[in-house]
Amino acid sequence: MGARAVVPRTWLRWRGLVCGLRLASARRSPFVLDAVRHLVLNRSPMVTPGVCARFPYTLGRSIMEGEVRRRLRLGFIGGGLNSAVGRAHAVASQMDGRWELVAGAFSTHGDVNRQTGTTWGVDPARVYESGTELLDKESGRLDAVVVLTPTPQHEEQVSALLSAGYDVISEKSLAGTSQAALDLYEFASAQQKFLAVIYNYSGYPMIRELRARIGNGELGRVLAVHVEMPSEWYVRRDAEGRPIQPQEWRQHDGAIPMLSLDLGTHAHHLVSFILRTEPLELVATQAHHGAVGTVTDYASCLARYPDAVDVNMWFGKCALGTRNGLRLRVYGELAAAEWMQMNPEEMRFSDARGDIRVVDRASPGTLVASLPRYERFKVGHPSGFLEAFANLYWDLADSVRDFREDGRFSSEYVCGARQAADGLRMMEAIALSAATRGWCEVGHE
Ligand SMILES: NC(=O)c1ccc[n+]([C@@H]2O[C@H](COP(=O)([O-])OP(=O)(O)OC[C@H]3O[C@@H](n4cnc5c(N)ncnc54)[C@H](O)[C@@H]3O)[C@@H](O)[C@H]2O)c1
Repeated sequence: MGARAVVPRTWLRWRGLVCGLRLASARRSPFVLDAVRHLVLNRSPMVTPGVCARFPYTLGRSIMEGEVRRRLRLGFIGGGLNSAVGRAHAVASQMDGRWELVAGAFSTHGDVNRQTGTTWGVDPARVYESGTELLDKESGRLDAVVVLTPTPQHEEQVSALLSAGYDVISEKSLAGTSQAALDLYEFASAQQKFLAVIYNYSGYPMIRELRARIGNGELGRVLAVHVEMPSEWYVRRDAEGRPIQPQEWRQHDGAIPMLSLDLGTHAHHLVSFILRTEPLELVATQAHHGAVGTVTDYASCLARYPDAVDVNMWFGKCALGTRNGLRLRVYGELAAAEWMQMNPEEMRFSDARGDIRVVDRASPGTLVASLPRYERFKVGHPSGFLEAFANLYWDLADSVRDFREDGRFSSEYVCGARQAADGLRMMEAIALSAATRGWCEVGHE
């Protein structure tokens, strides 16, 4: 039996309103808030009048915040069935019932475009031949548009969407240079429009756990971070021994190599996410080893962050045997942590007494990883890449709603255009350092 049958909807609304006003007597723990949201969202039979009475503030807020109201309406530009990342966005955005994909210009190939719309249940009348047509016809009908086209198109499309009055979520990289990203940030601010950039790896609960543990001092003073994101695709061969070629747009480098836009910005984001700081200076090398044109496919960097934290960063596409070898290691004075993307539910944690243990969502003492929002199924049934993406879409929904209320969003999990520009600035410094064979300042706004 669903919650609606147990608690009449009108009563819930009334109760939500009254309870929302009782903030003084509220239980405001984020854990409780999340738990009740989860129950309401899933229309659990556990949402009985008794539960409502026990958690008045949280349930009231949940209802008023809109989980019970309506899903936010999403449009895609790009992300067709022929793309690498489209399905991940389509699945993840709808995993928790916060977003609904209602419109799209998914592909420049008409048949792929239509087929994508059909696959994702989009009304054919709202599947458009181009982003420009979507922008013209969907005005006032969408809560946000996600840009999933090849990276070199982002800047122009994001700018056009903002000009037309849309709130925008862009896949990384937001632009090809830090200045262009900063211009978009300023333009979005001037237009009073929401602009966020997808960095999905910080959607993993164990990465969020790591950030929280560094934040509360559990690792002590951080001495060093090692982040690496190697893969093998530019040196791999097919069954006939021919090199595997990526999409055409990945075969050219701009001021910042495509490799850095693709992988380097992820590495930067993860480090900034867990340390909450930006690099000061760095020294780096870049190289071309593989079979894809002359593009940079290897980069290695030593960066100094504030408080004398040394960060070793390596990313590339010529490391055989590595499908996506994203790995993060943090060494503090009191403890160290290690996490690997291929085994994302577990973090290895070692302390100064010599204890080495595996921390997961069910470990005692977790700070955020065991929140009910991450428990789509209980621990032991692994969550992965798509769920991490979905966690970010959850936060994006909150942020869009926050933005509507007071023109800004404060989620610690959502990357804004300004932070995206910081990442591009680091990638520019890596390119400069590699070219000049010396240390470079990174510089910040
Ligand atoms: N966050 C991640 O883990 C991740 C992973 C892969 C890709 N990405 C990013 O996602 C973006 C897309 O990458 P991809 O590998 O999926 O690219 P892709 O080339 O595989 O797919 C691009 C899609 O956009 C469509 N398209 C191209 N131009 C268009 C236009 N003008 N209007 C409408 N549709 C258009 C194509 O038909 C295709 O469906 C890139 O910015 C990339 O960096 C992110």
